[in-house]
Amino acid sequence: MTRRTDLIRAAKTFRLRARAHHSGFKVGAAIETVKGRVFGGCNVENATYGLTVCAERVAVWKALSEGEAEFRRIAVVADSEILTPPCGPCRQILWEYCGDIEVILANLEGATATYRLSELFPYPFDNRFLGRKKQRDKKH
Ligand code: THU
Repeated sequence: MTRRTDLIRAAKTFRLRARAHHSGFKVGAAIETVKGRVFGGCNVENATYGLTVCAERVAVWKALSEGEAEFRRIAVVADSEILTPPCGPCRQILWEYCGDIEVILANLEGATATYRLSELFPYPFDNRFLGRKKQRDKKH
């Protein structure tokens, strides 16, 4: 298992690769699989703004595309006094692909906080609802 401090350090390293020339707000993430592999991500912005992808999702896409499916925790690092949590779309993706993982937030001054994803995203929409809908449709 990766040490918590190592996961935060990895997220800090990935943050330095952020393509955040529009917002100036660099974010790094590092996600750990249950087997202890670590995948990092940074935010990647573009001129249309709307196609921006957050650091968390980049890390998740990288891990999934490498064949990983089970995750333990993710660290998110930004240079903000108030610790930066994953945005709404990232919470949705984390919930669907990683489940109720631990979410470690950190800044560059050494402040950290740890949550379960279910604390940050308490009433999620996921495939349980899609399953119920299918059953309901079958009756008609
Ligand atoms: N951003 C992330 O990468 N992760 C977060 O948790 C919050 C926001 C990025 C998106 C955008 O590039 C910049 O931060 C400002 O919103």
